[in-house]
Amino acid sequence: MITTQSIADIRAQVKAWRLKGETVAFVPTMGNLHLGHITLVKEAKQRADHVVASIFVNPMQFGQNEDLDAYPRTLANDQAALVNAGAELLFTPTPEIIYPKGMDAQTFVEVPSISNELCGASRPGHFRGVATVVCKLFNIVQPDIAVFGQKDFQQLLVIRTMVADLSMPIEILGVETIREDSGLAMSSRNGYLTAEQKAQASQIKRSLDKMATSLQSGLALDAVISQAQIELADAGFKHDYLDIRNTNNFAIANSEDTELVILVAAYMGTTRLIDNLVVKLT
Ligand code: PAJ
Repeated sequence: MITTQSIADIRAQVKAWRLKGETVAFVPTMGNLHLGHITLVKEAKQRADHVVASIFVNPMQFGQNEDLDAYPRTLANDQAALVNAGAELLFTPTPEIIYPKGMDAQTFVEVPSISNELCGASRPGHFRGVATVVCKLFNIVQPDIAVFGQKDFQQLLVIRTMVADLSMPIEILGVETIREDSGLAMSSRNGYLTAEQKAQASQIKRSLDKMATSLQSGLALDAVISQAQIELADAGFKHDYLDIRNTNNFAIANSEDTELVILVAAYMGTTRLIDNLVVKLT
């Protein structure tokens, strides 16, 4: 696998593949790779002749008081895992390469409405940072297909909307959330948790599953949410949001909806965790 910080190197390699009529799949990440990321790379490998990955801890998507500096950087391990999973090209730019004019002086991409809700409400500017960097990475790599995790459900929606609205010729593939045996969704931020907090954090998935069962049995949306809020508080979580949305238009769910997604964000200590579960009422 070639690792490079150079935009020109990425373009030259992708161009060489294209001239041979070969296809390219892209997996953008912020590194500190776990099985969730690696599953995306393996899925990408199934879908295209070549896989390009990127590792860039994007300062534009972090808020002032967030964990940009503390974000774990583990390049050597990440490279080994990517080679194993079949990636052939890794882009590891610096912030200066991505934002030569500085972050505030450059064009940005803003996906309206969905960017300001839920995670966007808790993290102002976050989705502008995500959309802008993913747009730039897409323009650098120019993949046929790009692979993202459903773990970040709202992020996936922001990216699908950007690609549709800006007519980008890229297929977006969403991959199911990969979990620990306990049910805890894998995340680079799980590394911030103590063993005890990690055990408590597995309550998220138990509550999501219970909510799904309650919804199937016809319990009212409000009651389902309140019950889970109590469970999460009892497990030691500080509330950020817990909401049920219509999967198709992301509107707040009503009693008529049958395709639902439960979305949750909560703090265990100072660590903010997110998760979600898609529920089809039958
Ligand atoms: P990062 O958090 O490193 O995640 C990279 C990709 O891995 C995202 O598509 C995310 O949804 C996916 N992912 C993370 N945990 C997962 C899990 N447990 N199961 C399945 N997929 C999982 O998301 C970002 O980076 C950034 O916002 C990025 C898109 C790279 C833009 O900077």
